[in-house]
Amino acid sequence: MKNKNVAIVGATGAVGREFVGCLESRGVPLASLKLLASARSAGQKQTFRGQELTIEELKEDSFNGVDIALFSAGSGISRQYAPIAVKAGAVVVDNSSAFRADPAIPLVVPEINAHRLKDHKGIIANPNCAAITTLVPLWPVHQANPVRRLIISTYQAASGGGAALMEELEQSTRAYLDGKPYEPKVVKHPYAFNLFSHNTAIDMATGYNDEESKVIKETKKIFEDDKIAVSATCVRVPVLRAHSVSMTFECERPITPQEVKALLAKAPGVRIVDDWANNYFPMPKDASGQGDVLAGRIRKDLSDPSGKSISMFVAADQLLKGAALNAVQIAELL
Ligand code: A2P
Repeated sequence: MKNKNVAIVGATGAVGREFVGCLESRGVPLASLKLLASARSAGQKQTFRGQELTIEELKEDSFNGVDIALFSAGSGISRQYAPIAVKAGAVVVDNSSAFRADPAIPLVVPEINAHRLKDHKGIIANPNCAAITTLVPLWPVHQANPVRRLIISTYQAASGGGAALMEELEQSTRAYLDGKPYEPKVVKHPYAFNLFSHNTAIDMATGYNDEESKVIKETKKIFEDDKIAVSATCVRVPVLRAHSVSMTFECERPITPQEVKALLAKAPGVRIVDDWANNYFPMPKDASGQGDVLAGRIRKDLSDPSGKSISMFVAADQLLKGAALNAVQIAELL
């Protein structure tokens, strides 16, 4: 990327700031970096490698001379501006859900399907954060012994709802502890000391919310396997920035926890945290601020006497591997 001019759309957002952080911490050698956000933020300053950059308002001509554009400003902005960026000659890595379901657009987790990058026609979609967290540790198992059925329950952090939801968690918690009233602004329900079904719309035909439907569809697309049966329950929990997932999966043939552990021990992007004696397993606190998916509680699913099913618990930083880091890894591969 040495000669690449990079733009970040949504640079002031929760993921946008992490884009900047990842480019900095990974020492990605860029020619230039342009920070774009709404008119509200234009003129604000952010530092990148000790240099002060000024946030610019996103406009149709913002992409002149840009080689790679990292988008995280919501689906509407992506739908409107990603085609404009591509027309101006940029390759877009888009963190929104706008293009993920489009069969012509690669949906990429570098550890799983980097080969799909060669098919892009200007836009690459970054998968849903709960999907990335689930699939990075499941992929090595799937390759060794195909997963036929997957059931997940998620424990999703505030960061998935953007900077405003992170602030709502902090402010409502502070108000709760101070015994003060707090009127929720971003989500419908009280967030402090509470949890609730994921704040996306419910499909009235199936009862699944939009987040659950995304994980189900994206699993099939990323694994390139329509035969996997997936069910998901997605829940928002009062954690700031790391998602956890409890999963049970059934493979084609019998499989042992030891085999799964051996596969995960050599899997890129996965770190085993599975200390039975000390009851120490993946936690959002340990997952936050680092790039691996932590995997543990790897055990036999006792409800399946065939020996083909395993249960495990994983956690990953939603803003890093679940969003910005995955996108920056894609940009590096480009
Ligand atoms: P701004 O801070 O100027 O509103 P998050 O995902 O944390 O909610 O962040 C959303 C990001 O998308 C922010 O950087 C926000 O910028 C940006 N954004 C929202 N609306 C627009 C818009 N109309 N044009 C450009 N950027 C936008």
